Amino acid sequence: MALRYALKPRGFQNYCRHVFKPPGSLARSVSVDSRFFCQGSSEDIQLSRPVQLAGRKYLAGSFVPGFPEQLSSPREGFPLVLKARTDADLESKSIEFWSECFKEQISELYKDFQNGNSEPVAVLLRGLPIKTTKDFSRFVKGLNFEHFVYQGGLSVRDEVEDFILSGAGEPKEFSIELHNEMSYSTDYPSKFIITCLKKSLFGGETAICNGRELTANIDADLKAKFERKGIRYMRYIFDESEGSLYSWQRSLMTHDKEEAEQFLTAKGYSFKWDVKNLIYWNDSASTINHPLTGEQLWFNQAYQSNSTYYRAMPVYENSDLADEKYPYTTIHADGDVIDLDDLHKLRCTSWNTAVGVSLEESDVLFLDNLAVLHSRMSYDGDRAVATSIFK
Ligand SMILES: [Fe+2]
Repeated sequence: MALRYALKPRGFQNYCRHVFKPPGSLARSVSVDSRFFCQGSSEDIQLSRPVQLAGRKYLAGSFVPGFPEQLSSPREGFPLVLKARTDADLESKSIEFWSECFKEQISELYKDFQNGNSEPVAVLLRGLPIKTTKDFSRFVKGLNFEHFVYQGGLSVRDEVEDFILSGAGEPKEFSIELHNEMSYSTDYPSKFIITCLKKSLFGGETAICNGRELTANIDADLKAKFERKGIRYMRYIFDESEGSLYSWQRSLMTHDKEEAEQFLTAKGYSFKWDVKNLIYWNDSASTINHPLTGEQLWFNQAYQSNSTYYRAMPVYENSDLADEKYPYTTIHADGDVIDLDDLHKLRCTSWNTAVGVSLEESDVLFLDNLAVLHSRMSYDGDRAVATSIFK
């Protein structure tokens, strides 16, 4: 898989090194371009109310004993909070200007990460003039990253502007588990960006999880077991004539069976047809080595692509489908079923490691998708977000 990073610093002179101490780790420092951004604190993005996890309706695994009670608040420096400066000479600057500034800023943060000076890149950017999907499209276009097409994606998303996907189409009552975007796939984006266009009245918090911490927190025997046995992702996807939320035509972006097969073959999937419906599968390791640091990171969707995830959805409430008839399910690559207790431990560890962030309207959250997981809590009322993914 080709991973590309825009890592060319272009002569920025005014970086300040801001030092913070995350609990239980060495002091880390990050480079912030103080001409355009000021560093905020975790106080700026605290959750306005506690986010219940244990016993939460429509959250996979939440009724199993031992599930974490509540989502933790953001910690100092994760995510890094940057606020666009409001000096008079910056007031009328265009979205493209801010895009250029942020591109250079991100490049510096990746360098800090690569040099061992910081945690994985997770930045919440506040104060930009982003109000619409068009604005967001202009902003991400200017970052100059290589576009990643959401072909074969698990969620229900539409491309609403250039580079811009609608937020996940899963029902609002449902909480989406922590995941690295498309880590179930043979090819996945390395950058995930989301903006909030309309904040919901209640809920809809974004949780993020430091993949480095998660990797360290997972039980060593469990990690070794998954490394040894791998993961097989098995997708069952209906023909659009079945009227399902998911269809192979929508997901693979074609109505031509041959084109669908060519895509699957090119991407390294095995497949077969169940009359009009499509079944495809791939075997993956449970971890990746980050291309910038070489460190081994937990990177998979063993639980979020498992049938137990779908069983927690309102649409599948009380359903008695066989595991392999859900949109996705996972087993080990050696053919063994994944132990439910193992899935539970992984769910608990990920939620215990995660922190919750309440995105305000116009906020942009940028994540290194290889090293930071994200999720969406259920919500009430209207909510609009837009996302963008890049190679
Ligand atoms: Fe996602």
